[in-house]
Amino acid sequence: MTSAALIGVPDVTEFELNAWIGLRLAAVEHALSSWVTADAPQGLTHSAPAQLVAAMRYAVLDGGKRLRPLLVLAAHEAVCAAQGDASFDAAMHAACAVELIHAYSLVHDDMPCMDNDVLRRGKPTVHVQFGEAGALLAGDALQALAFELLTPQDGSVPEATQARLCALLARAAGSAGMAGGQAIDLASVGLPLTESQLREMHELKTGALLQASVMMGAQCGAPDARAVAALQIYGSAIGLAFQVVDDILDVTADSSILGKTAGKDAENHKPTYVSLLGLEASQAYAQRLLVQALSALDGSGLAQTRALRALADMVVNRAH
Ligand code: IPE
Ligand code: IPE
Ligand code: MG
Ligand code: MG
Ligand code: MG
Repeated sequence: MTSAALIGVPDVTEFELNAWIGLRLAAVEHALSSWVTADAPQGLTHSAPAQLVAAMRYAVLDGGKRLRPLLVLAAHEAVCAAQGDASFDAAMHAACAVELIHAYSLVHDDMPCMDNDVLRRGKPTVHVQFGEAGALLAGDALQALAFELLTPQDGSVPEATQARLCALLARAAGSAGMAGGQAIDLASVGLPLTESQLREMHELKTGALLQASVMMGAQCGAPDARAVAALQIYGSAIGLAFQVVDDILDVTADSSILGKTAGKDAENHKPTYVSLLGLEASQAYAQRLLVQALSALDGSGLAQTRALRALADMVVNRAH
């Protein structure tokens, strides 16, 4: 029995999660493929070098669970409670922008100067395929493209929304977010971190972008203060839970299921929840974080939270 069932929330299987996800994944894949191209953007005359765009498309397309875009869309729907709302365009731009930052973070994370991984999303990593300079530049360009996506010049996203989305994403990706967490990760190799140091590292390197996904989706609509506060707690809990489960899967899952090399954390002497607490306590902690996330939604005042509940369950009880 999952924690969701234990605290009496509706069984997530009652919700047609597969149908909900299927529709949105198709839309996200289509949007990503049409936005990561060599075409000159928005009236500029120069198109991008073909080899750089090939590396960017290789990094972004054909793989990935797209969890962050799904969280953006679910949070947007929870706040707007009606699909087809005028702000859906903004939510799709935000969903893809977060995925581009995530994809860039993976490209750099896999490089020899960081985790030195050769397999990602079931394929050779970007630096294996395109060389280290190619991977570095693909990551740089994906980061820039994310912010370009958030600032379309065609009137599809109101300027006030553009500014809110840029601020949320910049903060989550930067030195007080993902990049900062990655710096702590590299500086912590071989060190015995305390639980609070480990939690801070995970909250920054992974949690920040997941929480930002939730808040960006919400900010495409007009959330009230109660919903904002609840979604912040929800996003923080699933963000941390996501990396706790990533640490667990590195130990328990096969490379063929993960699409990346299992067992790398121990090999690279990374401090993880499993190395600090052990497997069982880490699994129990992830379940407690799921309960926290679901409880926050209970107090959100939002009527339509089924997708957010189902995605929280997926974060914690996933197989890859
Ligand atoms: C892996 O993220 C990297 C972490 C932040 C732990 P995901 O497990 O979401 O990777 P993809 O996008 O599905 O490949
Ligand atoms: C990655 O953490 C976090 C970011 C990419 C920001 P990991 O190094 O644990 O991710 P995987 O296991 O390689 O996907
Ligand atoms: Mg890493
Ligand atoms: Mg890694
Ligand atoms: Mg990992």
